[in-house]
Amino acid sequence: MALLPILRFPDPRLKKVATLVTRIDEGTRKLVADMAETMYEAPGIGLAATQVDVHQRIVVIDVSEDKSDLQVFINPTLGQCEGSQVGEEGCLSVPGIYDKVERSERVTVSYLDLDGKQQKLEAEGLLAVCIQHEIDHLNGTVFVDHLSLLKQTRIKNKMAKQARVTA
Ligand code: NI
Repeated sequence: MALLPILRFPDPRLKKVATLVTRIDEGTRKLVADMAETMYEAPGIGLAATQVDVHQRIVVIDVSEDKSDLQVFINPTLGQCEGSQVGEEGCLSVPGIYDKVERSERVTVSYLDLDGKQQKLEAEGLLAVCIQHEIDHLNGTVFVDHLSLLKQTRIKNKMAKQARVTA
């Protein structure tokens, strides 16, 4: 396994729309293992392949307290979405920035598991938020894109300052 570098907002590669996975093979399993390791190390509760500059529709999530429940979603699509919730979100691609985003309270997600089997999951609360946040990444959207233009500009400036300090 290996840690993968995470793209930082506003890297234009975060805007790429990921393509469907057509074959689940050893390469896919290796990528998923590396993504999980990268997410746990960060630490974070979700990571989309887009964030590690792989533009395939793959997401890993673990919202459990003890980091014992890795969930892998390949080609995830949202079905029914109900209700709304507003929560403070952050993102491994936008370190140090947290802001409120409105999301659906309950979602149904269809996806393939690592064996290529079609699965369907009903999620609510934090898991539902995380699924929506990560599917956004696969479509080239970062949570910052849901904020006002003024906030987006402030965040871009802050990220540019951070990049200079760490460079
Ligand atoms: Ni994110």
